[in-house]
Amino acid sequence: MRSRPGSAKPILSTAVPSTVCCLKFLPRKGLAPRFWFENMHLLEGRHHIVVPCSPGVAQFLIRELRQLKMPIIEERATSITTKGVFADALKLNLNLRTGQRVLWRLGSFKASDPDQLYDKLMPLPWENLIAADGYFSVTSVVDNPTIRDNRFANLRVKDAIVDRIRRVCGRRPDSGPRRDRLVFYLFWQQDDVKIYLDTSGPTLAQRDYRLDPGKAPLRETLAAALIMASGWNGSKNFINPMCGSGTLVIEAALLAQNRIPGLLRQEYSFQSLVGFKNMDLLEMRAAALRKARPDRKMRLIASDIDPAMVKVAQENAERAGVADVIEFITCDFAETPIPEGGGVLICNPEYGHRLGDEEELKATYSRLGDFLKQKATGYEAFIFSGNRRLLKEIGLRVDRRWAFDNGGIACDLDAYPLYKGSREPGKEK
Ligand SMILES: C[S@@+](CC[C@H](N)C(=O)[O-])C[C@H]1O[C@@H](n2cnc3c(N)ncnc32)[C@H](O)[C@@H]1O
Repeated sequence: MRSRPGSAKPILSTAVPSTVCCLKFLPRKGLAPRFWFENMHLLEGRHHIVVPCSPGVAQFLIRELRQLKMPIIEERATSITTKGVFADALKLNLNLRTGQRVLWRLGSFKASDPDQLYDKLMPLPWENLIAADGYFSVTSVVDNPTIRDNRFANLRVKDAIVDRIRRVCGRRPDSGPRRDRLVFYLFWQQDDVKIYLDTSGPTLAQRDYRLDPGKAPLRETLAAALIMASGWNGSKNFINPMCGSGTLVIEAALLAQNRIPGLLRQEYSFQSLVGFKNMDLLEMRAAALRKARPDRKMRLIASDIDPAMVKVAQENAERAGVADVIEFITCDFAETPIPEGGGVLICNPEYGHRLGDEEELKATYSRLGDFLKQKATGYEAFIFSGNRRLLKEIGLRVDRRWAFDNGGIACDLDAYPLYKGSREPGKEK
């Protein structure tokens, strides 16, 4: 095993099988071998971990990472970088409510063209990650002058992995577009290459409780961010008119009972890693379960005018294990019971993207404003919508606004405190 010059640490520190002679996998001559494996220790030691998120969600993701005692290394609008050991990547997969996936940085190096990319990737001990009869896929973000089609870059990564495993094991794994096994992410900007293992696979928004998404559902990760923005912590009432498939109320209940998403989701990409012991995952789940507070009772009310949606929401809540703390009601939003004691009222009305919809919806938004003013005094109301013209029809003073993105549509979460007394809300129009 070779050591990096000036370092006592072996370059291929990740348990390369002793039978494997690494020297034959050294890069071709002239490719700056001194630095060819800078940071390439695969799963050992502390690595950068990147968690992508949708626009507007980063501040809530940072909050979650801090609560999980992870350092913040870099903040971007659609990703946060932290650093930790591989067990931290698993912890993030199980715990994060707002992140989309967890990318473990395998390494970074320089490559100016696809041949260099291949030459620097091929010597890595990929057989320590992927079984020879396993399956993986490659995806990428590339901005390099030699690459016109990302698929070519993906192909070179795939070739490097497959060739290495064939040489070491005599067989090669399959590869293709499926993202439910091991997924490698290539980020290649000019000649800077970063290669990641996507430890999540399908997006972390998939918590496995929403088999029927209903119409225009919110992603679970976004719903969790909206609850965090509202500041609701389970100590007061939670009212969710126009609940649709129930994403908001279910995420709220999960948050208040400290049930992490990893208690629901069964499969992650990291489970396909060579040597991964499902026992580890079971132990992490058991530890999380001990911290959950399913006995914590609070009042959550969700309503929708469509009985079919109420049934869907109820079934989703049952799968999520929180149906017993939510009252589901079929009614017009204006008939939703608002108990004494105050709390948070949050709703996500339709915001119409077809011509004509908007006129009809104006009346709904105006009625919603009247309902809040007349019936929800003592609560803080939050409306999430992708149409500011419609939001104006609410006719109440907006106290705070957060900008988000929902499936490519710019959306706002507007807060309306509806306090009694001196801060009595007044119609603006
Ligand atoms: C955009 S969807 C809500 C999606 C939801 N956030 C989810 O994640 O599934 C809006 C919901 O409002 C309901 N709705 C429309 N008009 C209503 C009314 N007047 N009263 C109550 N619910 C209404 C629809 O049936 C629909 O389920």
